[in-house]
This record gives sequence, structure tokens and C-alpha cells, in this order.
Amino acid sequence: MPRHVGIIMDGNGRWAAQRGEDRCEGHRAGSHAVRRIVRVARRIGLEALTLYAFSFQNWARPPAEVAGLMALLHDFLIEERSEILGNGIRLAAIGDLDQLPAPVRAVLDQLCADSAHNSRMTLTLALSYGGQEEIAQAMRVIAAEAAAGKLDPQAIDIDTIRSHIPSLQVGDPDLIIRTGGERRLSNFLLFGSAYAELFFSDRHWPDFTEEDLFLAIASYQRRERRFGLVLEGGAGLSPRAKSSDSN
Ligand code: FPP
Repeated sequence: MPRHVGIIMDGNGRWAAQRGEDRCEGHRAGSHAVRRIVRVARRIGLEALTLYAFSFQNWARPPAEVAGLMALLHDFLIEERSEILGNGIRLAAIGDLDQLPAPVRAVLDQLCADSAHNSRMTLTLALSYGGQEEIAQAMRVIAAEAAAGKLDPQAIDIDTIRSHIPSLQVGDPDLIIRTGGERRLSNFLLFGSAYAELFFSDRHWPDFTEEDLFLAIASYQRRERRFGLVLEGGAGLSPRAKSSDSN
């Protein structure tokens, strides 16, 4: 089983357009898919699920769409509160959370705090999130620590960077799923996705079902993860190659 699954929930707008509906209706249907998939993920024992719910770049969408998404997020946090608390789910959020409207931020902070001791699954919402922005923020903190003499610049390694990246507090993603037919990462979990397995589904996010999640996991289970090493006669991993020539 993958430990940590990330999902790029794409295709809400096209789902709505196909039905002659407003984009916000696509997001509303998308929020129902979120509820569905969170329940399945919890049931099958995923340790961590990270959902790309709103990118840093999404602020540039029409104000009505942004407001609609914020309202859906607010409703989700209120309506799913007992489900999250009652099922041992720890809620976390990553991204530039200061940009969120105050009412959303308030319910988000409250639920993150109230669920902090849960340990069955960590559900992370990526909100106002960008992978490049997250790396830049980590660099600012690392540079400040180095300038203050708390960190030797020569000692900065991958683990130093990883430890400053909030999305990786639950570990690197093992599997990243993108719905909606496009085949790109769109600034999601950039540092942690170095060795993630990628699964692209043509299904639009509102149509994504439990069976689609199982298909993605089954595909993951058929992959041979080498992390830049060579597999010798099926006997295990041998560190013959360094990560620089991995694939
Ligand atoms: C991308 O589809 C999706 C988003 C920008 C928002 C994702 C939001 C939700 C699934 C619902 C709200 C979230 C929660 C956690 C309640 P798109 O609009 O880019 O689709 P398109 O590519 O077809 O236009």
C-alpha cells in the first residue's frame, strides 16, 4: 500500500461545462467527491492523504469562483467536523494560509487544533499552495538560520531542506494521482515528488469513485520502485547507482 497519496483534483470546470452548468456547480460536485474519497482513504488505511484544493495561482480566477470555492471549503470544514474527529483523522493544512478569508481560517485552525492528537490518517488540505512557493519559503528560513549562525551552510543537505517543507511532515508522497486528463504536476508537492509514482486518470474529479482510487493503487502496486538503485535478480535493491542517474 502507498503510505502517502497526493491528489490533484482537476476537471471540475469541464464537468460543469459538459452539463451546461456554472463552474461553481463543478466545484460543489467536487466537494462531494472529496468527502467520498476521504472516507475510502480512511477505511483502506492510508496513513496520509494530501488534496490539492486551491493553488496559490487560483487566486487569479474570477472573484465569484474564488468566493464559491472558499464557501465550499468553509461548509466542508463545518459539516465534516464530526466525521474527521470521530474517525481518528488529523487535519492539517499547507500553503499561504494567511491569504484565506478570516471565517475559513478560523474553522480551519480550530479543526486542525482539535484533531491534532488523532493518528489514524492525516488529511492535508493544500490551500493557497504552490510547490515552488513552499520551496522558496523553506529557503528563506534556512538562509535566516544560516545568517544567524544556527546552521552551517556547508551542512545543508536534502534532509535539511525536507525538514523545512511543511508538505513533507507526513513523508514524501508515494503516489500522486491527477484526475481530469492532463498529465502534469502543476506546482504540487514538487520537492517531495522526486520519486513519487504518478497516476493520471481521464475521469473528471466529481466523477472520481472508490473504484478509480483502487485502480490507481493497483497500478502503484504493479510498479517497481527503484529510487535510482538497480534490482538484481529480484533479490532486492543494490546501491549501484546514485540518485543522480535515477529513473
Ligand atoms: C481544479 O478543477 C479544481 C480546483 C481548482 C478546486 C478543487 C476544489 C474542490 C475539489 C472542491 C472544494 C474542496 C474541498 C476540500 C471542499 P478546474 O476548475 O481547474 O477544472 P477544469 O480544468 O475542468 O477547468
